[in-house]
Amino acid sequence: MLRRLHPDQPDSFAFTPENQKWAEAQMKKFPEGRQASAIIPLLWRAQEQEGWLTRPAIEGVAQMLDLAFIRALEVASFYFMFQLQPVGSVAHIQVCGTLSCMICGAEDLIGVCKGKIADEPHTLSADGKFSWEEVECLGSCANAPMAQIGKDYYEDLTAERLSEIIDELAAGKVPVPGPQNGRYASEPMGGLTSLENYEADKHQYNASVQLATDIGDTIKRIDGTEVPLLTPWIADAQPAKPKGKPKPEPKPAAGVPADATGVTEQEAQATSKAKPKSKDEPAAAKQAAASSKPAAKAAPAVDAPEKEPETLSGPRAGGADDLKKISGVGPKLEQTLNSLGFWHFDQIAKWTENEISWVDSRLKFKGRIRRDDWIGQATALAKKD
Ligand code: FES
Repeated sequence: MLRRLHPDQPDSFAFTPENQKWAEAQMKKFPEGRQASAIIPLLWRAQEQEGWLTRPAIEGVAQMLDLAFIRALEVASFYFMFQLQPVGSVAHIQVCGTLSCMICGAEDLIGVCKGKIADEPHTLSADGKFSWEEVECLGSCANAPMAQIGKDYYEDLTAERLSEIIDELAAGKVPVPGPQNGRYASEPMGGLTSLENYEADKHQYNASVQLATDIGDTIKRIDGTEVPLLTPWIADAQPAKPKGKPKPEPKPAAGVPADATGVTEQEAQATSKAKPKSKDEPAAAKQAAASSKPAAKAAPAVDAPEKEPETLSGPRAGGADDLKKISGVGPKLEQTLNSLGFWHFDQIAKWTENEISWVDSRLKFKGRIRRDDWIGQATALAKKD
């Protein structure tokens, strides 16, 4: 099935304030510079808020994560859990059509959806309240046939019961999810035949249904106020408060080897800055690496003092370069670079270590200029241009 953006899109997208806080907290789960790893939870929350994943939502999430739009679209269009077209304003019904459910009557459930909602999946009902689709096994095979409606499972369904559930939802009610034939969970219909002492521990509903009814968000669009925002990883990440005066970082003295390589830190940094002098040099470097004395790896000069690079008040005649061609620069970062006065590859290619430090300190995610070798990339792109 082709998964494309829907032709009708809203003009804009914004997370609710609570969802925005939630999304920013998720981004902090990942190391500095790796915030793109939060893409799936953020897209998912955007869908939970809007019901489906709109183009402005995909682009908004891409901007938050400093990703090219196409990267976010690749993720959104790859996973079938992301709805790329509008869904029913009340509920989107996902009927499992895999083996156990199929044997137990999934086709009858699909017949109900076709009759009550729309002939074709991913199509809104005439009143816009419902949509449906057939999905693969949802892992509740012992309670087949079943359907996921909103966030919860409705199990042990019959065509009649599903039809009633749709009517109840249309009337503004939310039927209790879980088994619909009187079972507590997935025990035999006649009751437990083993581990019978668990019978005494029964509550009104099984744990999953209890949680669903407690939170009450089965078909609700999530605005972030449903459950308190818990972020233990942020508390853990706080650096311990220094007691007294901070001790200076130990550094090897000039001319004194930092480790068993015998190469001083100063020599290593000087080597990293030196330009290749001849074509034979890479071969010589390889030879050195193969020799008994290992070559020292130069540490990036992350502590270089800041110096403001030359900037421009606007792009030169002929227009700005597409800085997004530099791997690691997304639309948001390009805007930041433009606002700092950088419009062209050759400007970036000329940055010195001190100038890198100046720019780096003005970016949201530090360290990526050196890590992604912007200078090398910009030099190559400037030459190409
Ligand atoms: S086959 Fe339907 S839930 Fe597994």
